[in-house]
Amino acid sequence: MSILIVQGSSNPNGNTATIVKMLADKLNAEVLDLTTKNILPFDYQFKNQEDDFNSTAHDIFDRFDTIIFASPVYWYTMSGIMKNFIDRLTDGLLYDKALGQKYENKNMAAIACGSSQMTIEGYFIPFQKSATYLKMNYLGDIHSWIDEANVISSVAEKRLHAFTQLF
Ligand SMILES: Cc1cc2nc3c(=O)[nH]c(=O)nc-3n(C[C@H](O)[C@H](O)[C@H](O)COP(=O)(O)O)c2cc1C
Repeated sequence: MSILIVQGSSNPNGNTATIVKMLADKLNAEVLDLTTKNILPFDYQFKNQEDDFNSTAHDIFDRFDTIIFASPVYWYTMSGIMKNFIDRLTDGLLYDKALGQKYENKNMAAIACGSSQMTIEGYFIPFQKSATYLKMNYLGDIHSWIDEANVISSVAEKRLHAFTQLF
């Protein structure tokens, strides 16, 4: 299975990155840090086609069969840069149909990284429903966190290990 983890934190070296690094090692996955890309918000006139979305999305769907979206919890939902990326998948449905044809039958999973062990109600619904809409297989999700000592707790680590068994 070729796995890509799309890291959607505004902090390339923050808590989400710590979780992503650990999982990428365990899963032998590649990581794409969205802060390294210029991905503009969705535009009904598609005047944003000179940004990095098109080349990035084609590359992702050409090279990987499994995409894990890893986002911090920002105001009870995914980060803005992650939402921009997911919104832009719409380009593949409305404008760049060659891209949209690559979505079907790919696998999706999601990771939340919050400030504590407390899960966020409904956090994963947009990922689950988007996967269904895009005819992708949704493999599962996990809420994670980094404890006050800036490390992954043994409780979180056990859950993350269970998450890796999905792939
Ligand atoms: C803009 C912003 C909004 C946040 N909103 C929430 C929230 O709604 N619930 C929560 O538990 N933590 C919230 N947090 C805390 C982050 O989820 C938490 O610190 C996370 O581990 C940060 O990951 P990062 O270092 O990758 O950004 C918020 C943090 C920021 C910066």
